[in-house]
Amino acid sequence: CGIVGYVGPRQCVDLIVGGLRKLEYRGYDSAGVAVVGSSGLAVKRAKGKLQNLVNLLGESPLGGCTGIGHTRWATHGRPSDENAHPHSYGGVAVVHNGIIENHLELKEALTGRGHKFRSETDTEIFAHLVADALDAGARDLQAAVRTALQQVKGTYALAVISDKRPDEIVAAKNASPLVVGFGKGESFLASDVPAILEHTRDVVYLEEGELAVLTPGGITLFGKDGEPLARKPRRIEWSAVAAEKDGHKHFMHKEIWEQPRAVADTIRGRASLEQGDVTLDGMELPEDYAKGLERIVIVACGTSWHAGLSGRLMIETLARVPVEVELASEFRNRDPLVSEKVMCIAISQSGETADTLAAVKIAKARGAKAFSICNVVGSAISRECDGGTLFTRAGPEIGVASTKAFTTQLCGLYLLAVKLGRLRGALTAEKAREHLEALRLVPGWMESMIRQEAALMPIAKRCAAARDVLFLGRGGQFPVALEGALKLKEISYIHAEGYAAGEMKHGPIALIDEQMPVVVLATREPAYEKTLGNMEEVRARGGHVFAVVSEGDTHAASLAEVALTVPPAPPLLVPLLSIIPLQFLAYHVADLKGTDVDQPRNLAKSVTVE
Ligand code: G6P
Repeated sequence: CGIVGYVGPRQCVDLIVGGLRKLEYRGYDSAGVAVVGSSGLAVKRAKGKLQNLVNLLGESPLGGCTGIGHTRWATHGRPSDENAHPHSYGGVAVVHNGIIENHLELKEALTGRGHKFRSETDTEIFAHLVADALDAGARDLQAAVRTALQQVKGTYALAVISDKRPDEIVAAKNASPLVVGFGKGESFLASDVPAILEHTRDVVYLEEGELAVLTPGGITLFGKDGEPLARKPRRIEWSAVAAEKDGHKHFMHKEIWEQPRAVADTIRGRASLEQGDVTLDGMELPEDYAKGLERIVIVACGTSWHAGLSGRLMIETLARVPVEVELASEFRNRDPLVSEKVMCIAISQSGETADTLAAVKIAKARGAKAFSICNVVGSAISRECDGGTLFTRAGPEIGVASTKAFTTQLCGLYLLAVKLGRLRGALTAEKAREHLEALRLVPGWMESMIRQEAALMPIAKRCAAARDVLFLGRGGQFPVALEGALKLKEISYIHAEGYAAGEMKHGPIALIDEQMPVVVLATREPAYEKTLGNMEEVRARGGHVFAVVSEGDTHAASLAEVALTVPPAPPLLVPLLSIIPLQFLAYHVADLKGTDVDQPRNLAKSVTVE
């Protein structure tokens, strides 16, 4: 989602809409703007592209010099006019990025006090809380926002205006990005720098728990405990294009770096350590249904299919139910054996892939209940699934080669596996707690993978000069090998194959010579000694071995020319980590070759044709 705010002498609507336009490339499903003018607070919102909002504003213009605007990427509630931000109540308007975890409780309490809600969003609650605090005599808007924040658990970047304080915006940040911009006699705010770069280059990025009060005369920052902060603005030197990518050269690179955040968001509010259980918002999974399952069929395409292969191991291990993973394009074109006792799970980043959608329809027609794991709220596949959808919270993925969508899918599958394990009695609360505790450590472990980026440059150089690259993995690492090879193919146009390490002797070994780089996933999986044997075999034939090994495993590392290390995560979670060096590898090979990383030839982000 994108946020823009302005307070100063100018009429602000065009400026805000201009800022939102700069954020449009991130994806949106609705947009809106709220201003405080001479006639109080006014709000306009429209579903769909920003142009719909522009048209609406053309028909009935808004006037005012203090305003906030938003483009939405739905997390709670489908895309619609009512669910679009800003949300308003009692003269208060709010825009928000993030997730309010305790929104159900808060909504119930507010409803009990006679509040009526107009949307399905978690954000609207915040407008009610602020309005209530103002009515209860809060000193000023800042105090009212603080009172509201005390009641809220979750992540946010938010901005609030009120008709009672016409020259003021109060903004607060926790986990979602927010930046304030300093002007002469005017102040700006945005979720992302590109939105305000045209007007100011002097900015401060808010830190966790900080709050900002913007007026035409300046911006005052406050720390977690309300203490005023003195922070010097930093000057942004990036070009407008670089700013869109947060200073990264390509979106894909930015998205690889975003994975710790994306995974943390996907877990948020879903894994309860206290109860040793998982809340799958959006999925309907009665205990009887889970217990009565004979089989699960996962259908997906491309990278999402690789996530499914990893998901099989997670679900079979934790929930003890057989899982098949099918390419949607194959499944749909035969007469698959499916019944009411089969759970169909579609995995799709976009939620629009034609083959996956068709596979869901076929499974449903044969009596199965369909579920999905998708990244786009309101997408066709999520609408088609009668059992509901678990939404990954990767945020819009722009690079055609999928990265953060993949790891958040794995995270969603892991949550689902624990849930099914609990429902089917295969996991005690205690065991489930252990699994969830490990899952919570993944974002930190991912950071340690990202820190190794520079170490793989020698591998990237070697691969950039190769005609073919082989990726080997065993057990849980086999899908990672497939995904690593796909990434390299997609963006560098170098032929790559992912192989189950045990199958090397049945074919690919014939290809190995001095020219051939082989990337081996050799973490301590069951039977990993055999993978070490594969590395020896490649070396004996003059091939170049690059490896991803478990931290501290000097023996495995000694068999490779370059080895990257994975922290001590449980095997089922290792794929979320070991894929990161392979994503970087594909990225740097492509970058060295100078291909179009974000929009590789012949590929599309979402394939809605069959
Ligand atoms: C296209 C994309 C891939 C993606 C696949 C499935 O081929 O280029 O990155 O994995 O479609 O897309 P979905 O949106 O269903 O996950």
